[in-house]
Amino acid sequence: MTQPFVIAVDGPAASGKGTVASRLAAHYGLPFLDTGLLYRAVGIDVLSGGGDLGDPVAAEAAARALEPGRLSDDAALTSGHAGEAASRVAGFPGVRAALLDLQQAFARQPGGAVLDGRDIGTVIAPDAPAKLFVTATPETRARRRWRQLNERGDLITYEAMLSDILRRDERDAGRGSAPMIQAADAVLLDTTEMDIEAAFDAARRIVEAARAKHGL
Ligand code: DC
Repeated sequence: MTQPFVIAVDGPAASGKGTVASRLAAHYGLPFLDTGLLYRAVGIDVLSGGGDLGDPVAAEAAARALEPGRLSDDAALTSGHAGEAASRVAGFPGVRAALLDLQQAFARQPGGAVLDGRDIGTVIAPDAPAKLFVTATPETRARRRWRQLNERGDLITYEAMLSDILRRDERDAGRGSAPMIQAADAVLLDTTEMDIEAAFDAARRIVEAARAKHGL
């Protein structure tokens, strides 16, 4: 039996991984899960319930109560504030455990799937036949995110954005539970000098090579 066609896309904030992953999903006709939204929703739910982002019990309770159906149309989840809250609660092993089954069930769909996050290739779908680790320099990522946020009126300086990005990288890569790390068998895609079209094209070539290798 051939293995499901799972594409695992990991990488730091504003690396282009979300756009690359959703474009790959559309290209191959596969369902797509942005796993960052799960952690963002947990962070926002803790805050809106009056809880403390440093409280592992409140965060795990929010993760267990999460309704995944609401994720797609909640604009509040895309703010910088939600990203920061997500990064805080994502460090708790209880939160990661509560969100594991849902993500693994998504990855195990018979026709395959595309997932993006920080630990897809290492923890959620370690057997995925196609794995990418998408990155770019912190300065490039800060500039991209700063433009996006300013365009929609979320005013923040470039310097503040860069320090947010560096803090988030350090927290996501430094945590003990499922840290952000390139899987040994993931292909590195550095998008620093690429626009979206070039990044998608490079990603598609990586996936095509993986398909050929695995006979998919
Ligand atoms: O991909 P994103 O920026 O939406 O993710 C927000 C935060 O959620 C990120 O800083 C770390 C956390 N996260 C995680 O720990 N594991 C994932 N698979 C996805 C996101």
